[in-house]
Amino acid sequence: MIAIGCDHGGYDLKLAVESYLKEQGVEYVDFGCDGEKVDYPDIAVKVCEKVVNGECDKGILVCGTGIGMSMCANKINGIRAAVCGDTFSAKYTRLHNNANVLCMGGRVIGAGLACEIVHEFLNNEFEGGRHIARLDKMKNLEGK
Ligand code: RB5
Repeated sequence: MIAIGCDHGGYDLKLAVESYLKEQGVEYVDFGCDGEKVDYPDIAVKVCEKVVNGECDKGILVCGTGIGMSMCANKINGIRAAVCGDTFSAKYTRLHNNANVLCMGGRVIGAGLACEIVHEFLNNEFEGGRHIARLDKMKNLEGK
């Protein structure tokens, strides 16, 4: 199950991503917004809580740039959020960083690229190995 959310800057792209998820048979829960003006931290926290508590496997957050959402998401313990504007980053943030939240910018990339990014994010698994110790060190940064 994927948790997905956006602010007004990411609304159109979120709808495109949701159509793609439906097409692919990927289940998701939408935590808003519905196009109205909202503050992105309010949406980021709703999506990330579901990822951290295990109700959802991964999260997708869309704002104007993807940056505000990622900054908020990465303040939440247990979240590893990556802003991606290309497919290589989306693949490697799964393989190396075990990212559990994908952030994208609705004012930065188009729907076609965003769906390919989502595909890489959802279809690559963490490699483990040498990356485990790095993620442990990352975890130790929480709360500093
Ligand atoms: C909203 O105008 C905009 O600031 C927001 O969508 C996002 O780009 C923030 O990082």
